[in-house]
Amino acid sequence: MKFFIDTANLDQIRDAQELGVLDGVTTNPSLMAKEGITGRNNILKHYVDICNIVDGDVSAEVIATDLKGMIKEGEELAELHDQIVVKVPMIRDGVKALKYFSDKGIRTNCTLVFSPGQALLAAKAGATYVSPFIGRLDDISTDGLNLIAEIRLIYDNYGYQTQILAASIRHTMHIIDCAKLGADVMTGPLSAIEGLLKHPLTDIGLAKFLEDYKKGN
Ligand code: G3P
Repeated sequence: MKFFIDTANLDQIRDAQELGVLDGVTTNPSLMAKEGITGRNNILKHYVDICNIVDGDVSAEVIATDLKGMIKEGEELAELHDQIVVKVPMIRDGVKALKYFSDKGIRTNCTLVFSPGQALLAAKAGATYVSPFIGRLDDISTDGLNLIAEIRLIYDNYGYQTQILAASIRHTMHIIDCAKLGADVMTGPLSAIEGLLKHPLTDIGLAKFLEDYKKGN
């Protein structure tokens, strides 16, 4: 399972990279705004800064919602750095843009996916990644994890190569459940990744080992 961090915060990206388990980064316009990154040039520079910290894929989202605009922005984003993956929303022109980019060899992440049908369309259009938002489904009393299971079944039925990128991960158990269900990638906050580390019996056991070592030395 690949681990992506879902943030535009450079310190958190560095922390996750230093942990040694980071495979990439996802961002979106809201995460950029949260870091105070505004204006096209600043946003483009920030993507390059992120690429220079991590080794893996960095999703950069188009703002246009029409095909021509998405193609123009997506090609500009892809030119920025070879780690950039163009993030395209699951809308009618987005599906056309996914196909266009796929035909041109530009890698894509289809975002804002909330149903198995949308995920099927993204795969048929040749998306590299599909991003089902599980936390936002949970927020409206719908089982987000079930969507991961449904997409896994559909993709396996036909051998689609589109990678399932479980997004809108809110906590550590989401990561574990997505791993059980066979999501190819998860993207979440640093806190959810760090939560995988923790177990009280580890801390108690380590304290006892160190105490016993001191007795004998
Ligand atoms: O990057 C997209 C997705 O992960 C957003 O998550 O927590 O805003 O629903 P969230």
